[in-house]
Amino acid sequence: MRTACITGASSGIGAEFARQLKGKGFRLILVSRKNKNLEPLVAELAPRGITCIEADVSKPADCEKIAAECRRQNVDLFINNAGFGSVGNFAESDLDDDCNMIDTNVRAVHILTRLMLGFFMSKNSGYILNVASIAGLLPGGPYMATYYATKSYVVSLTNSIREELRLAKSDVHISMLCPGPVDTNFNNRAGVVFALKGISAKSCVRYCLRKMKTGTEIIVPGFPVRLASKFIGLSPRRPLLAFTAKQQTKKLN
Ligand SMILES: NC(=O)c1ccc[n+]([C@@H]2O[C@H](COP(=O)([O-])OP(=O)(O)OC[C@H]3O[C@@H](n4cnc5c(N)ncnc54)[C@H](OP(=O)(O)O)[C@@H]3O)[C@@H](O)[C@H]2O)c1
Repeated sequence: MRTACITGASSGIGAEFARQLKGKGFRLILVSRKNKNLEPLVAELAPRGITCIEADVSKPADCEKIAAECRRQNVDLFINNAGFGSVGNFAESDLDDDCNMIDTNVRAVHILTRLMLGFFMSKNSGYILNVASIAGLLPGGPYMATYYATKSYVVSLTNSIREELRLAKSDVHISMLCPGPVDTNFNNRAGVVFALKGISAKSCVRYCLRKMKTGTEIIVPGFPVRLASKFIGLSPRRPLLAFTAKQQTKKLN
């Protein structure tokens, strides 16, 4: 039986990965800052084959704890999903909140990817999925500057590792999920309303799991966002930043 570990499994996209992977017969290791946040999901999925880890991925020692359990249970699939955003003028942003976002969206992904990659390479199998965002494919995101920057880091890191694995002819896989708006708790945490209609976490994850099987590098669910993503590389930077700023401004009240 295969085993998957999902960070940020207590709600939204992470909880949906848990549901759909359980449905495919995976054993699960679920991570949340509070075990009680996982209780409804564990009750829904039936507790057999599920391990809960109470860990705050923004703390390196907690990342070590997660990786140790993954090694112990010989994990096959690791999903770096925990993350959050916030909106506002950068000059007025809360520096503690920004640094916590960098620790969660960047440092934790870096540490966990490194630790899990080492383990997967030692057995020459395994899959790492990094949950980035369409934000990470854009040149920047005025009024959500820190969030966009964190997701760009995830995109760049994942691209580089993927190429290293390809050159090494490794059987270890890495790819990234880059969604546009998804209807989850993300908005409440970020204090925003989406400028575009979101897709459901269910369809986002269903699409992602399908594309992971085909070896897709950058997985973008939802046709309109996927179409838009094709133009990002072709569009001049300045108008793209102006357009993004306009979209983000709609989220500011
Ligand atoms: N929703 C969107 O529109 C959207 C679009 C693009 C990308 N994404 C990305 O998708 C991922 C999942 O977000 P979501 O939309 O599903 O949001 P969500 O419903 O708010 O879920 C976020 C999850 O992350 C966990 N989490 C947050 N900080 C954590 C920490 N320090 N340590 C451990 N767990 C932590 C939360 O768990 P606890 O509170 O229980 O710890 C929660 O389970 C994020 O990386 C986000 O950037 C979302």
